[in-house]
Amino acid sequence: MSTALLEIEDLTLSFAGVRALDGVSFTVGEGDLFAVIGPNGAGKSTLFNCISGIYRPESGSIKFAGRELLGSAPHRIAQAGIARTFQNVDVFPAMTVRECLLLARHRHLRSGPLAAMIRWGRSAREERAALRHVTEVAERLGLGHLLGRPVGPLPHGVQKRVELARSLCMEPRLLLLDEPVAGMNHEETAEMAATLREVNSDLGVTMLLVEHDMSMVMGISNRVCVLDFGRRIALDSPANIVRDEAVINAYLGGAL
Ligand SMILES: Nc1ncnc2c1ncn2[C@@H]1O[C@H](COP(=O)(O)OP(=O)(O)OP(=O)(O)O)[C@@H](O)[C@H]1O
Ligand SMILES: [Mg+2]
Repeated sequence: MSTALLEIEDLTLSFAGVRALDGVSFTVGEGDLFAVIGPNGAGKSTLFNCISGIYRPESGSIKFAGRELLGSAPHRIAQAGIARTFQNVDVFPAMTVRECLLLARHRHLRSGPLAAMIRWGRSAREERAALRHVTEVAERLGLGHLLGRPVGPLPHGVQKRVELARSLCMEPRLLLLDEPVAGMNHEETAEMAATLREVNSDLGVTMLLVEHDMSMVMGISNRVCVLDFGRRIALDSPANIVRDEAVINAYLGGAL
C-alpha cells in the first residue's frame, strides 16, 4: 500500500439545489494513476475544481501531502504541487509552443518581467534553466520539433499535448487531467495513453484522470472511482470495476 498523497473526505457541493458532489471520499496514493469516471454531470469536473481551489465545497476536507487545501487560493494550490489540464483546450493561439511552456514555468516560479529586470544576472541564469527544462519536457512529449510554431494552427490532438506539457513544466507532484483524449482519434489516443503512463512511471507524477474513453481508462489506471449524481458508487481496481453491477447499470452499460 502506497502512502496517501491526496485525501478527499466527505466532499459536498450544490449548485442551485443540484448536488454536484454528495459526500465523496477517496484516497489517492503516491504514484497512483487514479481514474474518476461516471456519466455526464456526475460531478467529475466539479471535483477537479474543488481540488484546484476554483470551487469551495460546502463541507468536507481535501488534504494534499497531509496539508489541508480547503480555503487556499488556486495559485497556492498550484505552488503546492498540483497542476491540471482542462476539459476544453485552453491555450493562447498566437503564442509559440515554446512561449506557452515558458509562460507556465514563469508563472510557477513567480518571477515576472519586472523582477527579471531588477535581478538581471540571476534571471538570465533562470531563463537558461527554464529554456532547458521546457525543451526537455517538449522532447519527452514529442513536441520538440514544434517549439517555434504557433499553437493556434496545430491539430487538436497536438494542442492537448501542449496543454499536458504546460502542466508538466510546473513540475507537479499531482496532475489532474480532465478528459485528456477528448476529441482525439484512435492513434492520438493510444499515443497519449502511452505518454501518460510514461510520465506516471518515469517522472513519478501521481495522476488523477477523468475520461470517458473506457478502454483507455481501464488500460492505464490502477484505481477507479465511479461517480453518479455526485455520489461515489464504486472504488476498485479496473478489473473489478468493469464487473461491478451498479457501475454497469449507471454508466458502463452505455459506455462500453
Ligand atoms: N458553475 C456551475 N453552476 C451551476 N451548475 C454547475 C456548475 N458547475 C457544474 N454544475 C452542475 O453540477 C453537476 C456536475 O457537473 P460536472 O461538470 O462536474 O459534471 P461532469 O461529471 O464533469 O460531466 P461531463 O462528463 O459532462 O464533463 C451538473 O449538474 C452541472 O450542471
Ligand atoms: Mg466534466
